[in-house]
Amino acid sequence: MRNDRYLTFALGKGRLANKTLELFEQIGITCEEMKDKSSRKLIFVNEALKLRFFLAKGPDVPTYVEYGAADIGVVGRDTILEENRNVYEVLDLGFGKCSMCVCGPREAGELLRHHERIRVASKYPNIAREYFYNKKLQTVDIIKLNGSVELGPLVELSDVIVDIVETGGTLRENGLEVLEEICPLSARMIVNPVSMQMETERIKELIHRLRGQLS
Ligand code: PRP
Repeated sequence: MRNDRYLTFALGKGRLANKTLELFEQIGITCEEMKDKSSRKLIFVNEALKLRFFLAKGPDVPTYVEYGAADIGVVGRDTILEENRNVYEVLDLGFGKCSMCVCGPREAGELLRHHERIRVASKYPNIAREYFYNKKLQTVDIIKLNGSVELGPLVELSDVIVDIVETGGTLRENGLEVLEEICPLSARMIVNPVSMQMETERIKELIHRLRGQLS
């Protein structure tokens, strides 16, 4: 039976979306419309394959997928953990590799070891809370920031930060270091649970082809 329903993809804007589109091209899924950088369009369609793509801010991707506005999303694992939405994580796409870490000046390592009530600045308050309260059983004060989190310890807003470390360059240039590693991160594919049931064949086929390409 011919399926005329569009499969809709929400892609996290930026490098992640570009990498995802590169990967999709390798398995024959293209979206020419999206390559026109001057376009102000928000939704791009591949009519032949009945696919739709849109770009969204990373933290909004799991929201679109949970509500079924997108069947499939591609976003960093950091965002998936922080947003904690009702979605299935189905595939590690292997790019965007980095780690979620507790970082700070070397001296702050002592405060961590003694389970002191410290201040933790982060763009990821939920990940920080989960780690300190549930994993380490350490009571801390979490301060939400929206970026340049490394400033926290530098201006004595916080003792440590919970943040993404990729090359470690930002930490090094600011006299900070990784004190504890929370978890590895990379780009992941997520799927709406209802879409997974309604479109099992198409989605499984897609995952299968991507897996083949990644291995
Ligand atoms: C991210 C992250 C670190 C930095 C880590 O910030 O929050 O600051 O990259 O990368 P590195 O280990 O390679 O130095 P981003 O550039 O996304 O901006 P932000 O600080 O505004 O969040």
